[in-house]
Amino acid sequence: MNNFEFKNPTKIIFGKGKIVNLTKEIPVNAKVLLLYGGGSIKENGVYVQVKNALSSFDVVEFGGIPANPEYAILMDALKVIKTQNITFLLAVGGGSVIDGTKFLSAAAEFEGETPWDLLTSGNPSLKGMPFGSVLTLPATGSEMNSGYVLTRKETKEKLASGGPALYPRFSILDPQVVSSIPQKQIANGLADAFTHVMEQYMTFPVQGLLQDRFAESILQTLIEVAPAILKDPSDYDAASNFMWSCTMALNGLIGQGVPGDWAIHMMGHELTAQFGIDHARTLAIITPSHYRYNLESKKEKLAQYAERVWGVNGGTIEDKAKAGIDQTEAFFHSLGIKTRLSEYTTEFTGTAELISKRFTDRGWLGMGENRKLTPTDVAKIVEMSY
Ligand code: NZQ
Ligand code: ZN
Repeated sequence: MNNFEFKNPTKIIFGKGKIVNLTKEIPVNAKVLLLYGGGSIKENGVYVQVKNALSSFDVVEFGGIPANPEYAILMDALKVIKTQNITFLLAVGGGSVIDGTKFLSAAAEFEGETPWDLLTSGNPSLKGMPFGSVLTLPATGSEMNSGYVLTRKETKEKLASGGPALYPRFSILDPQVVSSIPQKQIANGLADAFTHVMEQYMTFPVQGLLQDRFAESILQTLIEVAPAILKDPSDYDAASNFMWSCTMALNGLIGQGVPGDWAIHMMGHELTAQFGIDHARTLAIITPSHYRYNLESKKEKLAQYAERVWGVNGGTIEDKAKAGIDQTEAFFHSLGIKTRLSEYTTEFTGTAELISKRFTDRGWLGMGENRKLTPTDVAKIVEMSY
């Protein structure tokens, strides 16, 4: 096992009817900016619960943060923070709203000219305005981690950043919010969380026995609850397990002391930036090709995964590893998610070269758990996913 230091300061408040706890979690004299997305919270009762809980606070609102949170829109929110002397941010939404809020938390304390530099500098954010979240969509784990991803339409870029100052102070997870989520977004949440686990698990063995079993248990739980939550999003037991699995998939715990890959996400972000494909679906497009291309370096873990998660028995390590990849692709299909780029766009020609060039230009010359995946490899993987 590799050395590690682990600290996750986010307080999780989990359960039915817990949104009311906002009253106790936000500092009494705070001037709050309530941030939300396209309006789903106004239709499913979440907005009313939040407003009631905040009735004794001075609250300003900023709605309209789109899926794949957009830099230009967030810059408008930053103006509100500055002109209205906001002291606390409250994100009410899915990963996009929470990520946008993290960016604002960092941008509010940023001393340079252009806050976009937060995403290109590679420096972790060490200062941030305090913020909390009410999660409405299990998927990203953003509610309990310190990372965020921002999109800039103008330049067709989607970049990640973060830092120790960007953990939410608290996140409220009421599984009842799942009942209004459209099937497509539930499928996305399942696929995203599944891939988060895979990025931290599907590497090479380092005798992280507990980490492996944490990872496998989250994968198994997601597989187990998927049919129930897709069938009935108001199934509270299924929603609870879905929600907690998504949080645990990316709150840092399972990745401690083991190598991480994350190349699938890096390639996937480019597909969202180019074509606007939902984040989770880009992962489903890249994952099978990535594992097939890197079979040799990942085969031991792939075979272990096939055995322990999918019950694959018999055959060589390669046979089992390949069966594990096939099962993963079949799992995405069972969620109604297509796994080829050409099933999302007819304009895929040249995508592999474009992504490969972008990685070269950014100096991303060695990716994956071995830091050996070159832009040329990336081009081959993306092309395999057409
Ligand atoms: O905008 P509203 O109207 O709220 O509607 C949203 C949005 O259209 C809707 N929705 C959310 N909760 C709902 C609901 N509809 C009905 N009922 C509810 N309870 O769902 C749509 C998608 O929301 P979004 O927040 O975009 O989805 P998700 O949580 O999947 O977030 C995706 C973003 O997170 C980033 C992705 O790249 C993407 O930009 N990621 C963030 C990560 C992190 N911070 O750690 C890691 C991930 O790998 C990912 O990259
Ligand atoms: Zn993801």
